[in-house]
Order: sequence, then C-alpha cells, then structure tokens
Amino acid sequence: MKFFIDTADISGIKKAHEMGLVDGVTTNPSLIKKAGRDHEQTIREISALIPGPISVETLSDTAEGMIKEADTYITWGSNIVIKVVMTPEGMKAVRALSARGIKTNVTLIFSPLQALIAAKSGATYVSPFVGRLDDIGQVGMEIITQIRQIFDNYSLPTQILAASIRNPIHMLDSALVGADVATVPPATLFQLFKHPLTESGIATFMEDAKAWAI
Ligand code: E4P
Repeated sequence: MKFFIDTADISGIKKAHEMGLVDGVTTNPSLIKKAGRDHEQTIREISALIPGPISVETLSDTAEGMIKEADTYITWGSNIVIKVVMTPEGMKAVRALSARGIKTNVTLIFSPLQALIAAKSGATYVSPFVGRLDDIGQVGMEIITQIRQIFDNYSLPTQILAASIRNPIHMLDSALVGADVATVPPATLFQLFKHPLTESGIATFMEDAKAWAI
C-alpha cells in the first residue's frame, strides 16, 4: 500500500519525506486554507520536493471550468493529479482529462457505486472518505472493502485511495482490505511508529548497555 500524505504543510511533508514515507501528496481547499499560504506557490513547492503524484483540487462546478483549472494546475509541476468532485459534471471532466492522459482523483466518494462510476469515467484514483462516514455512524471501511471487490470483479485499473484516514486502525484496515493507497495526515503517519513496548524496550536496552558500552 502506498502512503500519501494528506496536508499542504511543507514542514510536515519534508519531515515525512526524510523518513521515506511519502509516495504522494493529497491536498484540498480546506488543507490549503489551513496551511495559510498561496495555493500556487504551495503546490509548486510540494511538487518540486516530492516526485510522486500531487493531487490538486478543482473548484468549478462545470466540466468546462474544471478542465480550464486543470490546464493551469498541470503547469505547476510534472506530477500534478487533478482532483475532481463526484458529480455528473465532474465525471465529464474526468472523461475529457483522462482522454488527454491527465491523471485524475475523484474525491468525496461515499458509496461503492460512486466509485464504480468514477472508474468507468476513467479516473486514475477514487477517494472514498472513511473517517467522514464513521462520523455519521456508518462503518467507513466497509465501502473500501466493497470497492475493492467491485474493481477486482471487473479488473478495473482505477486505484483505491483511502481518504479521510484519522487513526492507525484506519491505516491497518486499509492495508488489510487491499486499498492501493492511504492518504494520512502527518500526525497520524508519525503515530504509526509508536508502540509502548518499542519505547520501553529501547529504554531497557539503553539502561543495560550502560553496564558494558564504552
Ligand atoms: C483527501 O483527499 C481528503 O480530502 C481528506 O482525506 C479528507 O479528510 P478529512 O475528512 O479528515 O477532512
């Protein structure tokens, strides 16, 4: 499973990249707002730093507008993926962009059939939002399992990008059910290293080494 980082915060991306943990980056309008910096400048910096795919979200509500935005975004880096919302106009845009060889990520997916529509439209990635489904009392991971089964049934090449990942259990379950990618905020990514037995084991080894190490 590939690890994408779900942030527009350059320092978090750099820290995770130094650990070799960033296969790609996802951004959205809320993450750009949180980073508090110019959109284009931020994306250009991320794109120069990370060789993997960088998702940049369109804001228009028409296919024409989305395609126009995509034409601008792809000039910001060689690895830009165009993020499009799951609407009929969005799917028109995905079909047109895909025909031109431009990679797309269909976002705000909350049902397996939305994922199937996006895949049939030619999406490179679909982003089902696990955490937001959990938030409304639905088990978010179930749709990842169902999408996996549907895509496997028909050998669909679209990659499942588990999004709205909020904790290490979401990461574990995404890997167990066969998501191709999980996109995770930096804090959750760093949490994956932690285990109390690792920490107490290191402390014991260091203490014991004092008896003999030079
Ligand atoms: C990524 O592509 C999504 O925009 C993101 O994972 C949403 O996460 P959230 O539900 O925690 O905002």
